[in-house]
Amino acid sequence: MKLLFIGDIVGRPGRNIIKENLKNLIEENNVDFVIANGENAAGGNGITKKIAEELFDAGINFFTMGNHVWDNKEIFSFIDTEERIIRPLNYPPGAPGKGSNIIEVKNNLKIGIINISGRTFMQALDCPFRTCAEEIEKINKITNIIVVDFHAEATSEKQAMGWFLDGKVSLVVGTHTHVQTADERILPKGTAYITDVGMTGAYDSILGIDKDEVIKKFLNQLPARFEVASGRAQLNSVLVEIDEITGLAISIKRLNMLK
Ligand code: FE2
Repeated sequence: MKLLFIGDIVGRPGRNIIKENLKNLIEENNVDFVIANGENAAGGNGITKKIAEELFDAGINFFTMGNHVWDNKEIFSFIDTEERIIRPLNYPPGAPGKGSNIIEVKNNLKIGIINISGRTFMQALDCPFRTCAEEIEKINKITNIIVVDFHAEATSEKQAMGWFLDGKVSLVVGTHTHVQTADERILPKGTAYITDVGMTGAYDSILGIDKDEVIKKFLNQLPARFEVASGRAQLNSVLVEIDEITGLAISIKRLNMLK
């Protein structure tokens, strides 16, 4: 099967480039399933029901989130019932929503998706390595096609997760830094890996945000109101081919667009 994983969608420029181009990308590349990180989809802060629905209509099948999952309060009203959105698994017990799910891609083909947060330079959540390993054991009873979105800041922590899960999952994809790395590869035991898949949003920006405000904050160190940038948009993603029998990766390639 072919899976497209799209890097963090940031605000309207990110949503628009998806709406205008995703269906073509799916067709051109025979994509079976599309996952996107959606934690910044609504004006840079979280996701709303309406925006999620619009993006499902545009061709996205499933959303992972991250540390901004709770930024738009509306999420609390639908994350418990929406099967197609997950948040980091390693939040404390009792947090709304869930950290993994299993979805039917097509007849007799199921994919397990896990969202997990790093804890180096991030919130002190439960151990991402242990919680992820336990979840994989549970999912393995149903499918061996498993994608892990590791939403983390530190490249070392992300590489460690890739090596830790090599041979146990189909893909370990890093999100959160919004800057795509060029280290996509298949690890020796068959897991596809990239440290960060990048960002889908305004190109002339700082991580998708209006650059003037961010520069000002670096200069004066005062509180600032960040707005999503406008103008040209980029789409960052990886296209991964997965063996449906073994669950291991056959290929991984970065697929990017600038409009
Ligand atoms: Fe994030």
